[in-house]
Amino acid sequence: MMRGQLITFEGGEGGGKSTQLPLAAAYLREQGLEVITTREPGGTQIGEAIRGVLLNPDLPPMHPDTELLLMFAARNEHIQSAILPALAQGTWVLCDRFTDATYAYQGFGRGLDQARIAQLETWVQGVLRPDHILLFDLTVKTGMQRAKKRGAMDRFEQESYDFFERIRVGYLERAKTYSQQYRIVNAEQALEHVTQQMIQYLDEFIAEVGQ
Ligand code: TMP
Repeated sequence: MMRGQLITFEGGEGGGKSTQLPLAAAYLREQGLEVITTREPGGTQIGEAIRGVLLNPDLPPMHPDTELLLMFAARNEHIQSAILPALAQGTWVLCDRFTDATYAYQGFGRGLDQARIAQLETWVQGVLRPDHILLFDLTVKTGMQRAKKRGAMDRFEQESYDFFERIRVGYLERAKTYSQQYRIVNAEQALEHVTQQMIQYLDEFIAEVGQ
């Protein structure tokens, strides 16, 4: 049986990736594929509990290394109990954020050493990497305006404009370095155009597997 594909949805705040992800799942299912949708941090009962700690704005400030380790602790649980078994069964896994978010947020955002993140990536993931990364890119200004409209802000959403600017730069830099995996979706556009562009990319991914 053919291994499933791991497609991750990345970007700053307010890019609409969490709205687009179920639409992507529905589209792929229409094409006859088995699909699961999940998210990070989270995706398992333990991962969701860790997410609660990571996003809680009422907790005292967290050491950046603690934040990094909790992201990978949640990720380990997710990979072992959900992602790898699904991929092995030929199921496509659509994941709202993955390790590229760690490079962007903890690396570029918090200023943690990229090499340290890479060590954890190798330890926790072995050779597992996303087959495709959809980067929902938009200006920080638009993203923050949209995120604010959603109401209560979590621990990350309360960060400064500069923090999110570094994250955007980080994602775009990674998109250049890993241009084979990355596809950039212009998330500044109206919702239906974002969906259209995403579906064009999904068609490419399906065609690649069929070859
Ligand atoms: P979400 O708002 O897209 O659901 O993601 C939760 C927050 O967690 C978001 O602000 C980004 C942050 N995050 C990291 O800082 N590092 C990571 O590795 C992941 C997966 C998420």
